[in-house]
Amino acid sequence: MKIAVASDHAGFEGPEPHYKPEIIKYLQKRGVEVLDCGAFGPEAVDYPDYAQKACDAILRGEADMGVLICGTGIGVSIAANRNKGIRAATCVTPDMAVMSRTHNNANIICLGRRILRLDECLKLIDIFLDTPFSEGERHVRRIQKMD
Ligand code: RB5
Repeated sequence: MKIAVASDHAGFEGPEPHYKPEIIKYLQKRGVEVLDCGAFGPEAVDYPDYAQKACDAILRGEADMGVLICGTGIGVSIAANRNKGIRAATCVTPDMAVMSRTHNNANIICLGRRILRLDECLKLIDIFLDTPFSEGERHVRRIQKMD
């Protein structure tokens, strides 16, 4: 399993530990290979640029799934969902993380630095990665309608 991780400057804001490097460390500790798509520091950047880098990696088959971080998780999800074949879900609760996988077969989880504590982000990532798509006929049909 390889995960593309990207954030804008929100991944580095606030007191340390900063979210993006902590999330990468956590994924690596889980035994997951990480493709770091930036950004790499707290200088202000544009979230669509970094969301797109992670999406491109997934669409090229260089990563299986993605984790995107911005202030709210909303901007990166809007940007990512412009890509056919990307299903990016902003998740705030454990139920959202479960359903984004079982119903939507989401391939990117989007997290808000200004919305969630770091430990909440890590828990949502665990749920997201550990929950398989249901493969239910109605869910497959609905996804096919989008793709
Ligand atoms: C950056 O200040 C902020 O707008 C961005 O991280 C994100 O929250 C946008 O949706």
